[in-house]
Amino acid sequence: MAKEKSFYTCSECGGTNPRWLGKCPHCGAWNTLVETASEGAAAPGKNRFGDSFASLAGTAEVTMLSQIEAVDVARTPTGIDELDRVLGGGMVEGGVVLIGGDPGIGKSTLLLQALDGLQRTGMPTLYVTGEESGAQVALRSRRLGLDHSEVRVMAEIQLQKIIGTLEVEKPAVAVIDSIQTLYSDQLTSAPGSVAQVRECAAHLTRVAKASGVCIVLVGHVTKEGALAGPRVLEHMVDTVLYFEGDTHSSFRLVRAIKNRFGAVNEIGVFAMTEKGLKGVSNPSAIFLSQHSEPVPGSCVMVTLEGTRPMLVEVQALVDSGGPSPRRLSVGIERDRLAMLLAVLHRHAGVACMDQDVFVNAVGGVRISEPAADLAVMLSITSSLRGKPLPKGFIAFGEVGLAGEVRPAPRGQERLREAAKLGFSVAVVPKANAPKKGSREIEGLTIHPVERIEQAMDVVRGLG
Ligand code: TYD
Ligand code: MG
Repeated sequence: MAKEKSFYTCSECGGTNPRWLGKCPHCGAWNTLVETASEGAAAPGKNRFGDSFASLAGTAEVTMLSQIEAVDVARTPTGIDELDRVLGGGMVEGGVVLIGGDPGIGKSTLLLQALDGLQRTGMPTLYVTGEESGAQVALRSRRLGLDHSEVRVMAEIQLQKIIGTLEVEKPAVAVIDSIQTLYSDQLTSAPGSVAQVRECAAHLTRVAKASGVCIVLVGHVTKEGALAGPRVLEHMVDTVLYFEGDTHSSFRLVRAIKNRFGAVNEIGVFAMTEKGLKGVSNPSAIFLSQHSEPVPGSCVMVTLEGTRPMLVEVQALVDSGGPSPRRLSVGIERDRLAMLLAVLHRHAGVACMDQDVFVNAVGGVRISEPAADLAVMLSITSSLRGKPLPKGFIAFGEVGLAGEVRPAPRGQERLREAAKLGFSVAVVPKANAPKKGSREIEGLTIHPVERIEQAMDVVRGLG
């Protein structure tokens, strides 16, 4: 019998089958068989190692933890400060970075700029493009003002050829744009399928670890928000970065979701300009919209993403809805919104049952921390009552199911940032307010609250 190049593995039970089937013959699950390359694997059903693992597969060296020299990894800065910040200082030798985001958000632009920066410090780089031709990449580089760029470009989508070229060219950093366009000739499935994406990424990761080349994989995110090949790559790579932002606004955030070489949840802020992405080193107030006078349904909060506080405007619109009113949120989790509406009703007596509720974090930011709760609830109430919050007002704090307002991490830092930007009134969790007798934050009147109904009373008293 001819040796099969690949077989199929059930993602539910791990059982294998030589052919693809709609239903797994082992566990009966539907649509779970995924093609797998049979590299050194035995035919399905046989024991891969025979009777003795030690005699056939050999053994590997075991070392005591205390005897392993712990050298800190060497990082090479790309020269783009905001990118280096999310990477934890720069590119790491043998590191694999996955950078995901919607099509057209700026992944190729940023990476071309980064490669050019690295190349100018004398590091050999390689840009592998599977989506655009060399001419298109060149056109983009001219547009970015990267004249006389020595970045080498290869238009190729076949994995084995790319790996061969990496061996010969020996770049220090290689960008694969994108992982969804690659295909391995070991598999028969189409490029972009889960099997291909997984196989190509796994192979490239092994190459990176073995040769020390730093590989950056570009991955497109599908409509549902999952990286095609549903997040299958995240566990394989060292660093996962996601591009966020509204393609209609010029601001882009790059967020570290996972980083074996640095802190997570650090964000880099960029503005898309005529000449590519430019870092925004002081992003504090870019996510505020400009109202000359306070308007109903708008509340500013201070969010702390990574190490920098940022002011973000949360907007809400509450309007009479039909028999099944809608709850829609952009930049804030929808389930969280539903929960906050229930808390508002139960503990503060604010009922939106027959109302449509829309909530938006201005500028396409995604706020993942619960410290946004108070601002979301205050903006909803403000819209419902048609009454704006006072001028220069900020709020932050988590709100629990029992209606209690819980402190946000590093509250003092948030308050100082708000004061620096000229905000004058703050409603914050009690534990975040400066202690009695301690130094006040200049220019800011702080109202500490312990419960949501108390926050509502304070706001009513101010207005
Ligand atoms: P791109 O990097 O191609 O996105 P991705 O690789 O994530 O799909 O970004 C493309 C968008 O950026 C495109 O809509 C045009 C815009 N752009 C600029 O505004 N200025 C520039 O200098 C460049 C190169 C692109
Ligand atoms: Mg691209």
